[in-house]
Amino acid sequence: MDLKSKIEDLLNEVAELKASNDKELEALRIKYLSKKGVVSELMNEFRTVAPEAKKEIGIRINKLKTEALEKINGLREQLLASAVTESAENLDLTRTAYPVPLGTRHPISLVKNEIIDIFSRLGFCLADGPEIEDDWHVFSSMNFPADHPARDMQDTFFIEAHPDIILRTHTSSVQSRVMEKQQPPIRVICPGRVYRNETISARAHCFFHQVEGLYVDEKVSFADLKQVLLLFAQEMFGKDTKIRLRPSYFPFTEPSAEMDISCNICGGKGCSFCKHTGWVEILGCGMVDPAVLDACGIDSSKYMGYAFGLGVERITNLKYQIKDLRMFSENDKRFLEEFTAAN
Ligand code: PHE
Repeated sequence: MDLKSKIEDLLNEVAELKASNDKELEALRIKYLSKKGVVSELMNEFRTVAPEAKKEIGIRINKLKTEALEKINGLREQLLASAVTESAENLDLTRTAYPVPLGTRHPISLVKNEIIDIFSRLGFCLADGPEIEDDWHVFSSMNFPADHPARDMQDTFFIEAHPDIILRTHTSSVQSRVMEKQQPPIRVICPGRVYRNETISARAHCFFHQVEGLYVDEKVSFADLKQVLLLFAQEMFGKDTKIRLRPSYFPFTEPSAEMDISCNICGGKGCSFCKHTGWVEILGCGMVDPAVLDACGIDSSKYMGYAFGLGVERITNLKYQIKDLRMFSENDKRFLEEFTAAN
């Protein structure tokens, strides 16, 4: 058979090619288009063709090459299309949907919400303020003398270019913002993140969360404060929880106290968490110093109030016995997923 009719036969053959799967398709590609395939072989034979026939034979070989390529590509598209319809036909529309994994609330948020919930039931409203604050709202309005050690570089994050602008070290700054705008009766809680320049360890972090409370009215007594805090402790840790108040010092309250609760881990018998005392400290509190009221535009001869501040991490540790504070900010899913049931 001469070369020309061989090519004609191959052209007819190519037009009829069929493939029912990828494997067959690949075999066709190898047979016609690979380095040792039919087209390459024809190219080799082409060298021996007489010069006067070269043009015609050349054109036919090129035609065969393009047609083989187009045919094989066409077959590939057909296979793909039929795979898609097949999978659509196999769709089981009655099957239940894939489960969407839900995130869990962070333990700090869980406990913060619980604290907010308890005080809301007692009639406290929520108040909010900026985390980047000025010295006046964090310290001066809160009766910190100019040289008070809490303003020291070790405790406070300062912003270099603006020594007056700091990261708030407590949410008392929100209390002064509320008093500036509102006259008594005031009954607010201020939850939020606060920052202190501390070395990060299992027991300390450079940021943590507080909920501070402020109550200002005409006749407010230390007994009111004590009763509210007792109620809070019993709602949070169970009705058998006991509280005790120890004298303390804060520039913004007078008198000031720290409150302990009976250790809810050992029930007051003594364990390593309460350092075998049966008590754990959970908050600071006191009667608002009249100087704070006056600084914030409230007449201290007419009004008085109490304030308290607690650390959310501390309460969370007590509730869930978390040994290392750093766990709260590591975003380890295994840790966070442990709180799924509490959500
Ligand atoms: N602001 C105090 C602190 O951050 C807590 C506190 C608030 C104490 C209100 C007494 C009264 O440590």
